[in-house]
Amino acid sequence: MAALLILIHLATLLNSSLAVRKPLGTQTNIGTEFIRTSCGTTTDPGLCMTTFSGYASEIQASPKLLARTALSVSLNTTRSASTVIVKLSKSHGLKPKEIAAIRDCVEELKDSVDELKRACDEMGSGGGKSFELRMSDIQTWVSAALTDEDTCMDGFSGKYINGNLKTTVRRQIVKLAHLISIALAFVSHYAAHP
Ligand SMILES: *[C@@H]1O[C@H](CO)[C@@H](O)[C@H](O)[C@H]1NC(C)=O
Repeated sequence: MAALLILIHLATLLNSSLAVRKPLGTQTNIGTEFIRTSCGTTTDPGLCMTTFSGYASEIQASPKLLARTALSVSLNTTRSASTVIVKLSKSHGLKPKEIAAIRDCVEELKDSVDELKRACDEMGSGGGKSFELRMSDIQTWVSAALTDEDTCMDGFSGKYINGNLKTTVRRQIVKLAHLISIALAFVSHYAAHP
């Protein structure tokens, strides 16, 4: 009798959890499919999927939300890369040229943060300029941020930079450049198909 009661109880629990989960699952699938298709058009679909699939239920099938999320992720990742690279500048035994390269890179990242912040704000704002002008400004700022990453990498290409330092910075910046270029692709897509 007790066993039967437990079974019934379990069945009820299962039922209610299924009832809650089903609509959520359906929504997530729409979002996941949309993100998969969108990521397929970018230069790094793998990184794109890992980065954005967690936002599927918020993004659903909205090109605008996808672009906005990509800008926000780019901004946040630039900030954290900057923190990592500032920490590196405090390592022991760095040569003056390495310190200079790090300092220049941190300056570039600071510019990137400003540009991506403006892009995020513009994406969130509704009024004032026309849609076309807003999108074009956003694209300009995001492209500028992408150039900053290039400039940072250039400073680490010389032979006088320690190999480990080069690898660490490179890993951060290459990932960041990919994310920013994905954000640019999503903004451009939204601008063309609002
Ligand atoms: C970026 O960071 C801000 C502040 O920490 C946070 O509110 C926001 O959700 C983050 N963006 C994304 C897309 O995770």
